[in-house]
Order: sequence, then C-alpha cells, then structure tokens
Amino acid sequence: MILLDGKLVSEDLKKSIADQAAIFLKENERKPHLAAILVGNDGGSETYVASKVKNCEKVGFESTLIRFDTSVSEIELLNEIRIINERTDIDGLIVQLPLPAHINPDLVTETIDYRKDVDGFHPVNLGRMQRNLPCFLPATPFGILLMLEYYKINTSGMNCVVIGRSNIVGSPISILMARNANPGNCTVTLAHSKTKNIKELTLNADIIIAAIGKKNFLSADMVKNGSIIIDVGINREESSESRSGYKLFGDVDFEQVSKKAAFITPVPGGVGLMTIVGLLKNTLSAARKEIYS
Ligand code: GUN
Repeated sequence: MILLDGKLVSEDLKKSIADQAAIFLKENERKPHLAAILVGNDGGSETYVASKVKNCEKVGFESTLIRFDTSVSEIELLNEIRIINERTDIDGLIVQLPLPAHINPDLVTETIDYRKDVDGFHPVNLGRMQRNLPCFLPATPFGILLMLEYYKINTSGMNCVVIGRSNIVGSPISILMARNANPGNCTVTLAHSKTKNIKELTLNADIIIAAIGKKNFLSADMVKNGSIIIDVGINREESSESRSGYKLFGDVDFEQVSKKAAFITPVPGGVGLMTIVGLLKNTLSAARKEIYS
C-alpha cells in the first residue's frame, strides 16, 4: 500500500506556488489577493477559513477575511460580494459554505464574478469544466487531480465509483474523472443515497472517491484488492483526547481498507490539505489573469 500523502504533496506544491507568488509580486508590485467571506461561527467553517488565510500568508498571498453575523440579510451579503467584484486589488473571492438557511447559496454563488470565482462553483466555471475549457476547477476535485498527478497514477480506462453527488465534490469530480484527460478517461459511476447495492459497484471499482460525509462508510468488504481509495470525508467528532477538542474521521475505514488498497489517502493529512492547494493555484491563476482577461 502506498499512502497518498497530502502533507508531503501539499508542502511541495505550495513551495512552487510561493516561488510564483514572489515573481508575481516583483512584476506587479502587489501580492495575489484572496478575499474570504465567513457567515456565522460554525466550528468547521471557522477552521477551514482560518487555514485558508494562514496558507495564503505562507505562500506570499494577501488575504482579507470578511465576517458577518448569522443574522446578516441576503441583500447585505450580496452587496458585499458586488463591492468585492469591483475591487481591482482583489483577485479571488470565496464565500464559505454552508450558509444560514435564510440565504440562498445559488444566488450567492451566481453573484460572485466568475472571473474571481476561485472556488469554481459559478455556473460559468462549471459549464466550462464540463466542456473541458479553461476554467477555475472546484478546489477539492482540483486537489484530488493534483494528488493523482503527483503520484503519476494513470487512471485511463479505470472503473471509478464516486460516492456522493454534492455540488462541491461528488458531482464535479465525476465529470472530471470521465473527461478525455489525465487524470480522467475513467468509466464513472456516481453513487448516491438512492443507489441500490453500492457494494456491488465498489467491488468492481479500480478507484473509489468517497465523499458522503459518513464516518467509516466504506468498509474493507466493499473494496477489491489493489484499488485506489480517495477519502474526501471530514467528519468532526468531539474528543477530549485532542487539544482542539475534536477529532477528524474520513468516510473510509482506513485501518481495514488500507490492507487491501494499492493507494489510499488518510484523514486527516489527505485530500483536505490538497483542497487548499487547489484554491491557492486558482487564486494565482486569477491574479495572473490566465483564464479570463
Ligand atoms: N465548504 C466546504 N467545502 C468548501 C469549499 O471548498 N469552498 C467553500 N466556499 N465552502 C466550502
């Protein structure tokens, strides 16, 4: 079994991003700049946004964190997005999800200028992704592709089962793995809560991408020997054992599944760290106007 080591890969790729950020600074007399909007104080979202801000600093980007109380109105949030859309000193904008129930996430996503949509959630970017045109790829699927690329895994012709059809991960990664590209060229099955007999599908899979948000969902009896396992789950459970007060669990029973897998990502230390790399790469592309001028 080979561990797909998110720590090692992300640190290596961030070095290269930092080098490129230094060149950008020299040429443009400013740093690439990411703005993040955080609504409310959900524990998970707080952690993710703090990590995004910290990593911006690490690679030599500027970041701006804009916080709103949970009670912020939809119109107030949309107005802030429109202000940032107009700012020429900000290259990328993300609004951390989930949002409170009174705010329509689709409206929020579509209000972000697609040229600053470094989360790759805007319909323009998703449509261009589906057509294999230059675009911002959603950060987590992008991170998964970068991981497969780093380990030189050729996925062409593989049976890929994606479990979970979220807008953020499952749905876009299923499109990306089926594209005529490498990583890609897979025969993709997108399994979800209404899928019958998931085990029959996963036992036939060369690569499984688990993104459902259920601790230890994928057990060893569901995978064949020599398969590639990508665990996107970040399930937080309170724990007195750790300093942060919680512990993270993936969607995969790592201990047992790793005995059968050829490659596997751990949680923590796997895909989560690669998501940040995807976001940083998109922000650098946005600053350089590589995709949209
Ligand atoms: N919530 C969970 N994942 C993500 C992500 O990649 N981007 C944003 N904006 N919110 C998220």
